[in-house]
Formats: sequence, structure tokens, C-alpha cells
Amino acid sequence: MGKNKLKKFAQNETFTHVIQPKNEEVLNADFHLKGKWNEEFGNDNPIVLELACGKGEYSVGMAEIYPDKNFIGMDIKGARIFSGAKEVQEKGLTNVRFIRTKIDFINSFFAKNEISEIWILFADPQIGKPRKRLTSELFLHRYIKVLKPGGLLNLKSDSDDLYDFTKEESIPEFNKSQNGMSFNMRDDTDQLYEVGIKSFDETMQKVLNIRTFYEQMWLEQGKKIKFLSYQFKKENS
Ligand SMILES: C[S@@+](CC[C@H](N)C(=O)[O-])C[C@H]1O[C@@H](n2cnc3c(N)ncnc32)[C@H](O)[C@@H]1O
Repeated sequence: MGKNKLKKFAQNETFTHVIQPKNEEVLNADFHLKGKWNEEFGNDNPIVLELACGKGEYSVGMAEIYPDKNFIGMDIKGARIFSGAKEVQEKGLTNVRFIRTKIDFINSFFAKNEISEIWILFADPQIGKPRKRLTSELFLHRYIKVLKPGGLLNLKSDSDDLYDFTKEESIPEFNKSQNGMSFNMRDDTDQLYEVGIKSFDETMQKVLNIRTFYEQMWLEQGKKIKFLSYQFKKENS
């Protein structure tokens, strides 16, 4: 492993806002902060998750736009998380945490109704492995265990495959199979910057204009950015 990566890993250990659980703390176990994230932040503000956060551009960017919300970025790659964590430290933001873990363990970290919003930015399309996609039915079932009724699931992607799969397959299949639970579409555009962005209010335009590392790369290659937003509905709640 490169020296630079090792240095970043060592610095992550010093950040109190970077949480790096051991496998045994989450594998068939509840992490000690499950159900206690508001205590960890020291307020009752809504908690927003950025999944596959990479360098955490959305967690940091949204934390500045919404000081009255808390943000948690999750990713397995420590060197990427380091970039966001360092920015959080430099900016003195108190409403951001990062968890270095597999998103597959999401239910070990968060309790029922603990999460208000989920953002998935430029996740790998996982061609040929649909179950591994972060919007597959497998993951949707994990999300509904933590997402509040009325909570949001937002996806920004360059990938036609992931966009089509989410919109045409996994969400409709999930909605069909569920009794009294559904993800209802709020926004859908396959050309966010060409036609979609003007339809959002000013704050949301600012949010959608945050560019992640991968987004910047895809834009430079001329790819069109897609955006999907769903609201989680649960009857009798
Ligand atoms: C294409 S990158 C996008 C990163 C960032 N969102 C961006 O737009 O720059 C995908 C990220 O997802 C993370 N990832 C993919 N599947 C994951 C999983 N199951 N658990 C944790 N991280 C995952 C990878 O480590 C990687 O950082």
C-alpha cells in the first residue's frame, strides 16, 4: 500500500467525526450508536445519509447549506473518506460524520425511523450484478427499515443502466410486492443540467449543483446527468 494512503488512514484514526467500526461490531450485531445518532450530534435535527459517499462532497456541501440537519457519509474506502473528513475539520462543521463500512451493514447502524433522507451519488452501476446495485430491491428493503415515512430517496447518476433499472425495474417491483409501503416518485429528469435544474427551488438548485469527484469526471466526458427522487410512503403511520 502507498505511503500516502497509510498516512490518510492514520489521520482518519485521529478524527472524532470518522467512525471505523470493526467487523464484529456490525456483523450480526447492533453498532453502539444505533438509535442514538441524535445524541451523538447533540441535537434533534433530521439525519441525512450519503451512501457510497466517496470524498463526501454532498455531506460537506449540504452540511453548509443546511446547518439544521445532520449528515452521515458511508463508504468502504478510507482514503476517499479522508478528503471529506479533512474538509469537515478545516471548515469546523459539527453536523457531519463519516462511517467507513460496507453499506450492506446499514441496518446494524440505524434504527427504525432514524433517517430522514438518503442520497446516492454516482454509485457503481454494477453491470451484470443487479442485486449489488444500491437501488436494488435488496437494498430498498434495508432502507425502509431505517427511513422515516415521508423520507426521501435521491439518486444522481451518469449511468443509463442504473437510472433505467431504478425507475423501470426495482422501484416498481418493490412497490408491487409491498403491502402499504411504496416509494412514490417526486422528481425525474434524465438531463438534469440541460432541462431539469430550473424546476427546483433556489436551495435545491444549490444542492444539485454540488459536483462530486466522479460527477466532474463524467461531465468532462460529456455524459448527461440523471436525477430521481422518491418519497417513502407507509400506510397507517
Ligand atoms: C463511483 S464511486 C462514487 C463516489 C462518490 N459518490 C462520487 O460521486 O464521487 C462509488 C463509491 O461507492 C463505494 N461503494 C460501492 N459499493 C459499496 C458498498 N457496498 N459499501 C460501501 N461503499 C461502497 C466505493 O467505495 C466508491 O467510493
